[in-house]
Amino acid sequence: MDRSCGGVIPLISWSQLPSERPLVAPSLLSADFSRLGEEIAAVERGGADLLHLDVMDGHFVTNLTMGPVVIRGIRKLTKLFLDTHLMVVEPGRLVRDFRAAGADGITIHVEACKDVAATLAAVRETGARVGISLNPDTPVAALEPYLPAVDLVLVMSVYPGRGGQAFMPEALLKLKALLRLRAQHQLRFVLEVDGGIHPGTAAAVRAHGAEVLVAGSAVFGHPPYETPIRALRAAGAAPGLAP
Ligand code: DX5
Ligand code: ZN
Repeated sequence: MDRSCGGVIPLISWSQLPSERPLVAPSLLSADFSRLGEEIAAVERGGADLLHLDVMDGHFVTNLTMGPVVIRGIRKLTKLFLDTHLMVVEPGRLVRDFRAAGADGITIHVEACKDVAATLAAVRETGARVGISLNPDTPVAALEPYLPAVDLVLVMSVYPGRGGQAFMPEALLKLKALLRLRAQHQLRFVLEVDGGIHPGTAAAVRAHGAEVLVAGSAVFGHPPYETPIRALRAAGAAPGLAP
């Protein structure tokens, strides 16, 4: 158990990051929702480090997915760290509900909040890990003031809203810039990347600093799931950070 942020967060070796290998976070969005229990058990057995949950509100993105009710059900099915990615306008009003439902980490979008600092503080208040994300069109500079307040930065390497899109290589420069800022200011956030991640893109994002790899279609589209999970790990095994 890790109590460093005030809450009790299970089953993620956060304090060991950066590690020799990347953590793999299958995105449930690409799972078969008619067999959610089996799908979650299968990725857990297959070696998933976290479970990535995409919450979409039909406003911040056009798609609609799950809310706290569904997450409460998922919580009963797994001990995996629930890495909850809120693609929601003004998420601050909902973070207590997501935490109460069982979210371990809550990531909000910088573009979605009028008062980003207050929203991050609201997440912190819940005891969850605090994450911030940015869309492909948003520069890293937009995150800079908030970096000391977060545990995780999620770089979107596709436009949020759906799975199965092609990786946008522009994300590599953002990862590298964030890695630099982290070192320069002695910050501690974890770097996560989401969108178009598969064994063919994993090595590049890893080389540019990504520590948590979110993958939806690359995992759930390729059973048995231990095979893609292992391939993602292997592709990103050697950090070999880009200069
Ligand atoms: C996109 C979501 C992603 C999505 C990734 O808005 O945030 O988590 O599930 O799917 P893939 O890995 O298929 O690009
Ligand atoms: Zn996501």
